[in-house]
Amino acid sequence: MPTFNTSPGTRDILAPESARWRAFQQVFADVVEHAGFAHIIPPMFEDLGVFLRVGETTEIVTKEMYDFDDKGGRRIALRPEQTASVCRAFVEHRPVTPWKVWYSGPNFRYEKPQQGRYRQFDQVGVEVLGVDDPQLDAEIIALAVEFYRRLGLRGIRLSLNSLGDSGDRERYAAALRTHFVSHLDALSVESRATLERNPLRVLDSKRPEDAGAIAAAPRMADHLCDAAAAHFASVQAALQAAGVDFVIDDRLVRGLDYYRRTTFEFVATSLTAAHTAIGGGGRYDGLVADLGGPETPGIGFALGLDRTLLACDAEGVFAAPATVVEVFIVDVTGGAQAATVCSQLRAAGIGADRAYDARSMKSQMKVADRSGARLALIVGEDEVAKNAVTLRTMETGAQQLVPRDELVAQVKTALGR
Ligand code: HAM
Repeated sequence: MPTFNTSPGTRDILAPESARWRAFQQVFADVVEHAGFAHIIPPMFEDLGVFLRVGETTEIVTKEMYDFDDKGGRRIALRPEQTASVCRAFVEHRPVTPWKVWYSGPNFRYEKPQQGRYRQFDQVGVEVLGVDDPQLDAEIIALAVEFYRRLGLRGIRLSLNSLGDSGDRERYAAALRTHFVSHLDALSVESRATLERNPLRVLDSKRPEDAGAIAAAPRMADHLCDAAAAHFASVQAALQAAGVDFVIDDRLVRGLDYYRRTTFEFVATSLTAAHTAIGGGGRYDGLVADLGGPETPGIGFALGLDRTLLACDAEGVFAAPATVVEVFIVDVTGGAQAATVCSQLRAAGIGADRAYDARSMKSQMKVADRSGARLALIVGEDEVAKNAVTLRTMETGAQQLVPRDELVAQVKTALGR
């Protein structure tokens, strides 16, 4: 018989890591719902046209899209990110502004898989539509910082830039093109190809041979119009007032074309591999209009769950939550007693599990040990005769006989409830 493994770039998330994922999503939900964000669950696939707005020249669109014709002849794509979906939803439902939403879930990009880079990866994120105020930019960034603090992460560096208004961005791209064209000999083959598509992305190159030409390139800061420069200055002032540390990185262009004005990225200083960017975001003031809606400003971020947990591993923080099984029932009289006790405890809100197949006491105790339960309840012929159960504290090995009709109360006491 053929056997199957997961496709490249995908993984099974098994326990206890899966419990950690849920805890991660729960901490995020707590942080953002306390800030007035409502949960949105966009579909995992949509009309390809929605995602083309991410930028026709980006790798996400040109190389990495999971797109296909469905049986109805529609051109569909698995979502590579969720910002475009949120803007499509905004245009479709026309909610009142400001519209503040958060999301969590998988995204799909056909990338070269490696540690920290997957073809299916999870993000949590927020988007706000309808607000231009630079105070919001700072608040959004501070929310992400607060989330990292709740996880226990300390080694986070926030890079900040402004890509200006769309006119600024175009003028800057033209200036970069002129600069790099006059330094073509100093560019790698890959960057020359990137230059054809999008001169801004050349700034992203980490190839040593490109470093000289990049260092000498024109600066975005010199191409900001007065309004964009004033907006950026206010964002910085608001971040300082909020006590959020940041570094200005005017080479930060990000891999999506929709950004205008504020852009930012979070880097985990504990990660040494290539993929240290654990989250990023910014303003995308033209995206809603690009999707057929009214001119609407927007800002948000997405944080990569997979990579952020790698950063947590590197710092030794945010361990998987303990098992919820608190009591393990060992029944050597056939198993019917275990069934009754289990359902009695579960109904009382106590996490309970048991062994099956009438195994020996020794083998059931092994399973009890592995389960992580703090207490074992042992039922043998003796206990049945006395209408009682032996309660064993796993850590100390201390045992006591508990009458059946006091079982729930005694278990609760032993668990400190
Ligand atoms: P992004 O920078 O493409 O932005 O992705 C955000 C984060 O998702 C990255 O910093 C990284 O942690 C994680 N990520 C991206 N690709 C992968 C991958 N192949 N494997 C593992 N993790 C990955 C966006 O997606 C924008 N939608 C963010 C945004 C929201 N901007 C405004 N609002």
